[in-house]
Amino acid sequence: MFPILYLLFATVLCNGEFMRPPPGKMILTRHAESSSYPQQVHISAVGTDHMRVSWITTDKRVPSIVEYGTDSGTYDMTATGEHTSYRYFSYVSGKIHHVNIGPLLPDTVYYYRCGRVGDEFNFKTPPAVLPIDFVVAGDLGQTEWTASTLYHVNQSDYDMLLLPGDLSYADTQQPLWDAFGRFVEPYARKRPWMVTQGNHEVEAFPVLHDLHPFAAYNSRWPMPYQESGSPSNLYYSFDVAAAIHVIMLGSYTDFDSNSAQYNWLVADLAKVDRSKTPWLIVLLHVPWYNTNLAHQGEGESMRKAMEDLLYKARVDVVFCFYI
Ligand SMILES: *[C@@H]1O[C@H](CO)[C@@H](O)[C@H](O)[C@H]1NC(C)=O
Repeated sequence: MFPILYLLFATVLCNGEFMRPPPGKMILTRHAESSSYPQQVHISAVGTDHMRVSWITTDKRVPSIVEYGTDSGTYDMTATGEHTSYRYFSYVSGKIHHVNIGPLLPDTVYYYRCGRVGDEFNFKTPPAVLPIDFVVAGDLGQTEWTASTLYHVNQSDYDMLLLPGDLSYADTQQPLWDAFGRFVEPYARKRPWMVTQGNHEVEAFPVLHDLHPFAAYNSRWPMPYQESGSPSNLYYSFDVAAAIHVIMLGSYTDFDSNSAQYNWLVADLAKVDRSKTPWLIVLLHVPWYNTNLAHQGEGESMRKAMEDLLYKARVDVVFCFYI
């Protein structure tokens, strides 16, 4: 059985020539509920049988607790997690909750409630074995184009979304990270979304040393990096469906041959047992080969550093975005 991959590109082909469609109008999603009501809910896979539930409340008193179970309205299980927040100039984020729940059964619908407040949500866990349906979609933003992309994503009963960079296009305007979280929530709270970073996630100001890059991204979208022995949320790997090893690389952190990412990648590839996980998939933002007129040559130094590693490891497929 093959993993099925749906590729979604906001591109138009006209007589074989690429025509970049005009930018879509932004859709600003607002929070209409109380300050304790969970907003921006999304889930991500942690290991093969846990899920991280993430959400934000402006009310700081809401506990980082998820109640869950396999029957609607009956929560046999409760898990307590952690919370964080961050500052960016005058912006102060809400309380960002992250709760790891499990062990969970594969291919099963779970019903859950965040912070003991608000409505019940549900998600489906990925299958234990192939086949599995992935959606690969990057450069999302929050425009009419994004709405169209997500509408089409939702037409399939996919198992997991893989996002190779560029989420909100907030570009330092932090309230746009909140608007993006609300925009994608109806989809991202139902299926695990596994992301890696793009150029729009960096948001660094080199002159201000206390303003670390990736502040919003790392606070809002933590991925299971510790579980794969990675020292950074900017690159990690995981197994899914007992047959696929997915590697998420970081285009915007060091990748040369004496970098932490390079050393981690060498170690991670060495651990892959192709008799157990015959499929090896890599995602990163900046393509190493590029026929687009934009961004020419930008992936070249990373290609020179890492292509040989991936080639020798006989990676099956690499997905990039950066339109
Ligand atoms: C996604 O599709 C399902 C099934 O057709 C539908 O019930 C649901 O409302 C859709 N979700 C969104 C956010 O449009």
